[in-house]
Amino acid sequence: MNVYIETGAYVGDTLYNAEYPLKYSIEYDYNLYLYCKNRFIGDDNITMIHGDSRTVLEDLLVSMGGQSVVVIFLDASTRTTSVLIDELELIMKHPGNYKIRFNKSNIGKMGKNGIITLECILELVRQSYRLVVEPPDSEIVELIQNSGSESSVSECSSSDSL
Ligand SMILES: C[S@@+](CC[C@H](N)C(=O)[O-])C[C@H]1O[C@@H](n2cnc3c(N)ncnc32)[C@H](O)[C@@H]1O
Repeated sequence: MNVYIETGAYVGDTLYNAEYPLKYSIEYDYNLYLYCKNRFIGDDNITMIHGDSRTVLEDLLVSMGGQSVVVIFLDASTRTTSVLIDELELIMKHPGNYKIRFNKSNIGKMGKNGIITLECILELVRQSYRLVVEPPDSEIVELIQNSGSESSVSECSSSDSL
């Protein structure tokens, strides 16, 4: 089964429009979480989870057990910060059949080890994923799994640059 997991729901617009049979979204802000929970109250295929994606996402991936094709949209951020690096690190620890997406706007925000750079992201995932931007001017970047790849975690330093 195709499963969609999103980190950072905001008011749930992308979640609403995502066409998957099973959808999960993790939102840290309690008021936004409640807003989405009420918005999707009749949608049995949507599960809203309140919490920090840096812990909740890992629990969710473990519960999937690598059985499903999972599309993961990493969108948990504020105007100036992003937890994208933390999220990618934990995804690399739990290999599965994943397509990972994130917004280019995360690049340049403050992350776990300093400013997030594309080089840092690629270094983190390079053994298992390749980057696809389609169409080239798209704001959304996709990480596609290399066939037969194995996930592993590598370090990213704040001195990396674009
Ligand atoms: C860019 S908005 C998400 C937009 C939404 N995905 C959409 O496409 O409509 C970022 C959201 O991430 C949430 N957020 C920030 N840090 C988070 C974290 N560590 N875990 C979960 N959500 C987080 C913010 O509260 C905000 O609602």
